[in-house]
Amino acid sequence: MILSEKTNGYLPEQCAYAKRVQALLTERGVVSPKAHIVTFGCQQNVSDSERIKGMLLLCGYSLTEEITEADFILFNTCAVRGHAEDRVYGNVGATKKLKQANPNLMVSVCGCMAQQQSVASKFYKSYPYVDIVFGTQQYHRLPEFIYRRITGKRVYELTLDNADIVEDIPISRDGDLKGWLPIMYGCNNFCTYCIVPYVRGRERSRDPQEIIAEATKMINDGFKEIMLLGQNVNSYGKGESHGINFEKLLRMINDIPGDFRIRFMTSHPKDCTEELLDAIRDCKKVERHIHLPFQSGSSRILKQMNRHYDREGYLKLISAARERIPDVEFTSDIIVGFPGETYEDFCETLSLVKEVKFTSLFTFIYSPREGTPAATMPDPISREEKGKWFSELLVTQDEISKELNSSLIGKKMRVLCEEETADGLFTGKGEYYSSVTFEGNHDMIGKFVTVRVEKYENNTLYGTVIN
Ligand code: 5AD
Ligand code: SF4
Repeated sequence: MILSEKTNGYLPEQCAYAKRVQALLTERGVVSPKAHIVTFGCQQNVSDSERIKGMLLLCGYSLTEEITEADFILFNTCAVRGHAEDRVYGNVGATKKLKQANPNLMVSVCGCMAQQQSVASKFYKSYPYVDIVFGTQQYHRLPEFIYRRITGKRVYELTLDNADIVEDIPISRDGDLKGWLPIMYGCNNFCTYCIVPYVRGRERSRDPQEIIAEATKMINDGFKEIMLLGQNVNSYGKGESHGINFEKLLRMINDIPGDFRIRFMTSHPKDCTEELLDAIRDCKKVERHIHLPFQSGSSRILKQMNRHYDREGYLKLISAARERIPDVEFTSDIIVGFPGETYEDFCETLSLVKEVKFTSLFTFIYSPREGTPAATMPDPISREEKGKWFSELLVTQDEISKELNSSLIGKKMRVLCEEETADGLFTGKGEYYSSVTFEGNHDMIGKFVTVRVEKYENNTLYGTVIN
């Protein structure tokens, strides 16, 4: 676990609150206080939780995997689909009993779900044992919130003012090999089905120098893979005076000395330029993979979704990328059953999947989100019918995955050996998206090894280390 030493720039008032929290907990006899964090949703949330953990360490907590031993439990929530929300209510409800057993226990809910006024009010009224609820732009104030709760009333802080990004928050990273690096927060795109722009606010890019400093520190600390994060990394730097866009940022990170790999997500097709594709080709540390969600293969539905590209434009982009970056792999997100989607529209999604041949797909059945335009659109197709379409998509993709993976047999990959598998083999990703499993030893973990792919069995690629 690494706690960044660089907290000098982190808000002095929050550092002071953290010290007061430590003193108060000691005064109240909470010896060696422990915190347990539960994270739902996307990588952005996982990354935010690393910063939340950093601030909790600053307040004197240590982290525990055991919820029953915790003096502070935090749920970092997701609002993208209804299913994730239901799980949160169940999890939070279960803390009521834990509080009866440990009167010092504090329970907190944050993240995209908490940012919605209706949800926050529900926590306030129906979950009196929830102590602190805070929104997606207030993370950096956690020491203050804990202090206020210890000394007073329950805390509800949902301000979404799109203020400047707070830097130098201490970070407790989950791993020491692959690390998240947020480059921007929020989203301006307002796809009609999506709650994100409402709960995360406007797009705000981090200062390039802050990003370079964090990347350099990670590399010096031994990280071998940096995942650049943003809802739409392709619009990095828009509206900023420094003039550094995502293409330039990639080149700058690629120039940092060291043997490491750069990944990034998510790219919006409407902002994916030829210059960016050239940068991916030129930067040898950048993986040959683009996660490029297309959501639907029907131009009619794409218009309803407010995606700002059509089927033809998306396919042109795929061709442009393939011309420039040989063997580039694509992954994508797809929504099945958007309001008004017909089986004919869905067949266009199927045919696009067959045409592009994605290495992997993240597929979702449309989930209405209150407050978004799509939630009020007529949606006559039953859930059962959408489920059938969904299964058809999975079967189609399964065949494509088999075909693509089998075509990799014989190929050499430069693999970052990440971990041992349950059956004593080792595994990692190549310079593309695919993972490969091979015989190895513990010394290989954290190193790049060259692997020749030998076979594809049970949805796994197997290979042999050749140096
Ligand atoms: N219903 C289903 N899937 C959704 N996504 C976003 N909003 C919804 C929704 N309301 C999916 C999109 C997006 C991914 C992160 O989640 O495919 O790219
Ligand atoms: Fe949601 Fe669209 Fe923004 Fe992605 S680009 S976060 S799908 S609104």
